Amino acid sequence: GTTLGASAAEKGRYFGAAVGTYKFGDGTYMSVLNREFNSLVAENEMKWDATEPQRGGFNFGAGDRIVSHARANGMSMRGHTLLWHAQQPGWAQGLSGGDLRNAAINHVTQTAAHFRGQIYAWDVVNEAFADGGSGGRRDSNLQRTGNDWIEAAFRAARNADPGAKLCYNDYNTDGINAKSTGVYNMVRDFKSRGVPIDCVGFQSHLGTSIPGDYQANLQRFADLGVDVQITELDVTQANPSVYAAVTRACLAVSRCTGITVWGVRDCDSWRGSDNALLFDCAGNKKQAYNAVLDTLNGG
Ligand code: G3I
Repeated sequence: GTTLGASAAEKGRYFGAAVGTYKFGDGTYMSVLNREFNSLVAENEMKWDATEPQRGGFNFGAGDRIVSHARANGMSMRGHTLLWHAQQPGWAQGLSGGDLRNAAINHVTQTAAHFRGQIYAWDVVNEAFADGGSGGRRDSNLQRTGNDWIEAAFRAARNADPGAKLCYNDYNTDGINAKSTGVYNMVRDFKSRGVPIDCVGFQSHLGTSIPGDYQANLQRFADLGVDVQITELDVTQANPSVYAAVTRACLAVSRCTGITVWGVRDCDSWRGSDNALLFDCAGNKKQAYNAVLDTLNGG
């Protein structure tokens, strides 16, 4: 293939980008997006603060705009994210206990139902594990409603949109470490008890190197019977060999269904001056782009 999306499709995978509707009027941005990518995810528009600014008052307009663009251009959609400790609306931040639990599950149900049939995979829960060596859950208002909040969210999402793949998504889980093993143990437990989970997302916000056991980590999750996806890839100074190694690892794991980069051009990135993406601010292909494309094409 001659584009990221086409080359990934030849390997039975997608290649996606995180987008923001506020860039949809930028011609350079849109031409790169429409040429290169065959999957989209909303960088912010489907989060809780954006979709339910008032309790029970939903606003799916911006998310719908992204879904429409994806549909019109034959792109698949990842949904990000139904529950997260960050970017909660102010009203939810003030709740706790059963009241917060009910509000959270209602949010999952209403949001997944609204987008029913249009989402390939949902990040049902994002970043619920603690950093460091504990392998345990992150402390958050959601966690304080009870350890079963994650499975309750997955069950609600399955009921609301039975066709969507349901993912758990996190960062610093890209190699084999205490945090990723905590997630691994949760997924194994969910599979053994019939809690509906279909996939795990590895954000892969990477520095100047890739963990040596990156592929082995993807594989151990795949061996539990879930798909794996690279969901928010960006790399310090877009190191071409790191980008190539991530791509190679995904291609080597048959259940790795696709890669998403967290933005289009360097100037669209949350990482500011890290120049972490595949296109420069003018929309030109960078060296890392060629490294990814060549790897997808088997070079
Ligand atoms: O929408 C408001 C706008 O009204 C206001 O004028 C402006 C002033 O600062 O802020 C705007 O909100 C910002 C929002 O992005 C939309 O642009 C927030 O301040 C800003 O904090 C927010 O940042 C996002 C961040 O998540 C929030 O935690 C980034 O764009 C987004 O790239 C980032 O994405 C996360 C993933 O969801 C989860 N994994 C990590 C990843 C990187 O942090």
